[in-house]
This record gives sequence, C-alpha cells and structure tokens, in this order.
Amino acid sequence: MERGLEGLREDCLSCKKCGLCAARTHVVFGVGNPQSKVMLVGEGPGEHEDLEGEPFVGRGGQLLDKLLAAVDLDRRVNVYITNIVKCRPPKNRDPLPEEQEACLPWLRGQFSLIRPKILVCLGRVAAMKLIKPDIKITKEHGRFFEKNGLLMMPTLHPAALLRNPKEKPGAFEDFLKLREKIDELGCDIRNSGV
Ligand code: URA
Ligand code: SF4
Repeated sequence: MERGLEGLREDCLSCKKCGLCAARTHVVFGVGNPQSKVMLVGEGPGEHEDLEGEPFVGRGGQLLDKLLAAVDLDRRVNVYITNIVKCRPPKNRDPLPEEQEACLPWLRGQFSLIRPKILVCLGRVAAMKLIKPDIKITKEHGRFFEKNGLLMMPTLHPAALLRNPKEKPGAFEDFLKLREKIDELGCDIRNSGV
C-alpha cells in the first residue's frame, strides 16, 4: 500500500505471470488520474498500445477520447483507463481465460488503490469478466449493475463502433448516462475544487 500506484506499476512492468509477456514491447499498465472516481476497463492492448505503452491510443482510442470529451471527461484529468490484460495478445485475439486470471491481480491492485465509484466495461471481454459471464452487451449496454457498492456499466467497445458505426449513437447515450450518474454522485474530480 505504501508504495502506491507507482510501486504497483513498477512491479507490473516486469511481470511474467502469463505467456503474453513473450511478445510484448511494453506492458500497458494504465493512464489517468489516480484520484478519479471513474475507471474504464478495456480488453487488452492492441498494436499501437503495445508500441506506446498507453491504453487506447489507436483509432479506437481516438473515438473513445471523443466520447469522453462529449461528456466533459478527459483521460488525463478525471478518469482512469486500463485493461483486463496488460500485455498485447498476439494478432489481437481475445485474451484467454487463464491470461485474464493471471493478470487480474494487477487490476485488483489498481482498483483497491484508486477506489473508483463507477467502473465502465469497454466491450464484451471486460463486461463478461467483471460484471457477469452471460452478459449480452448489445442488449444490456448502458445499464448500471451494482456489486458491493460499486456501480458497473457495460458499453460497446470502441473498435466495435468503428466496425459498426450505426451503433455509435447508442454508445453516446451510454456516455450521457455515465455523465448523469457522475453528477448524481457528485464524483467528478474536475469539479471537486482540488
Ligand atoms: N482495445 C482495448 O481493449 N484496449 C486498448 O487499450 C486498446 C484497444
Ligand atoms: Fe503479467 Fe498480465 Fe502481462 Fe500476463 S498479461 S505477463 S499477467 S502483466
């Protein structure tokens, strides 16, 4: 605990707990404000993320930044963004169940240091792992699920929105709902006067 999030990051950068360590360029730990009460969790790094060491920096990431900006959220100011697995799965395949399990302690560590009030699952893989295994994301996106006082909302993955642009308005509505919930809870770090 005393080493905090930076200590956890340092440890994570040398992790070899699953096979994904073999081909990675960078471990992609996370980005954002550790004081934030809103955490977004994707699936795993893609090519650009692996090269740069930051989550969601490719085309999907640019779309995510736009959705965030539309509701006055910013990846460096009032949210924290990470992934289920911190190293890139080869050819962007879904991370295997055992890879997700191996990596989960890093996410748990981030979670217990940041203590978000709202967790947004970006796409099916994160929603299945963190909300419920039988989630139907096309039907249930934008709903809030409560677990031990934590509100969790699944939304469509930005890469899915790029493949299927007609889903964008639905995703935008999810972000509006997120904004409403943040305001209802009064948990935007940007507005807290610090
Ligand atoms: N897709 C993800 O799920 N996470 C990233 O960081 C980039 C693309
Ligand atoms: Fe470690 Fe996670 Fe990378 Fe696997 S994906 S090597 S568990 S940091």
